[in-house]
Amino acid sequence: MASALSYINYMLQTGQVSEVLAICASTGDTSAAAALYASYLTPQIKSAVLLPFKKVTPQQLSQPLGSGATVFEIPGVFDDCMKVVEALSERYDVALLNSKNAWRILGQESYSYEIAQDFEYALSDKVVVVPIGNAGNISAIMSGFLKFYATGIITSLPKILGVQSEHANPVYRYYLEPNAVKREFVPVAVRPSVAQAAMIGNPVSMPRVIHLVERYNQAAGRQRVFFAEVAEQEIMDWELIANRNGHVACTHGGEALAGLVTAKKQGLVADTDIGVLDSTAHALKFSGFQEMYFANQIPPEFNIQPDAALVNAPRYLHPQDLKKVPAPGKPLGGADFNRFVNRMAEEIGAVLNLKKI
Ligand SMILES: Cc1ncc(COP(=O)(O)O)c(C=O)c1O
Repeated sequence: MASALSYINYMLQTGQVSEVLAICASTGDTSAAAALYASYLTPQIKSAVLLPFKKVTPQQLSQPLGSGATVFEIPGVFDDCMKVVEALSERYDVALLNSKNAWRILGQESYSYEIAQDFEYALSDKVVVVPIGNAGNISAIMSGFLKFYATGIITSLPKILGVQSEHANPVYRYYLEPNAVKREFVPVAVRPSVAQAAMIGNPVSMPRVIHLVERYNQAAGRQRVFFAEVAEQEIMDWELIANRNGHVACTHGGEALAGLVTAKKQGLVADTDIGVLDSTAHALKFSGFQEMYFANQIPPEFNIQPDAALVNAPRYLHPQDLKKVPAPGKPLGGADFNRFVNRMAEEIGAVLNLKKI
């Protein structure tokens, strides 16, 4: 998004345009970035974003609102918003900020360059795992590595593993057919997914994916791009396991990890491979799904049963014999306060089974 807005800024500075309305359809995060970068460049650039009504988390929605974009909520799913935004960009003089726009893909290629740099350009044993929605990320990643490969900066191409939920899996389904000539792309009607930002049935970058996968495998001289499908249950469980191991993974990060586990079971990934997983958003943006999982309130259409070993909840402590407790604006003092502190410490010691010193 920085790359796209920099280009618009360049056009403004060089007098090629004077006022720009930047628009995008979004499952939440594209709009956050578009609105933020556009807000740097006010008043010449204004932004408008189209979101599927009730299919964007409140945390995601707060971002374009906070950055001052005009936000439209549209009935349907992302694919419907995308069609409207495409119609707008055909009829009106606006800048389209979806990954359909090559400015976006070109900027996103830097993800591959950074991976290459971080591994000192040795990529033969790496597998880059990426959740797929509108297929911008995976296109940019393949394209970036191909460019580094063509220049000789890297001498081997890493494996790429694209992951989709079984509730939004058009790319996975396309590649189920092993014979390239017989493959036919069929958009899918998406079902609710906890990887909500990737709940896309007709990815706008599908033609790019088809072209780049072919080029990538050809350049590597063997199959190096793979696809995996995962269940909603696996997405939630692996998100929680990732976060229990020190990561800050959102549901899409969980999807990537679940995909890696699936691919390993299928023998697509070796024990010695090193995974680089794209956890596309901050965990907090999708914490509502964690809350529902912990409270066993995920709607039935997701097919998710909480694993008791992963469920967590705060414990409210108020020993019954403790009559006086502090409250905001009503602190306790003297003996009451000492009793409160001592009883609470005792109670926590007992719950945690702590040894007295
Ligand atoms: C958090 C998150 N993960 C994954 C995706 C899917 O990425 P792409 O649309 O590039 O495939 C998106 C898309 O907006 C996203 O916001």
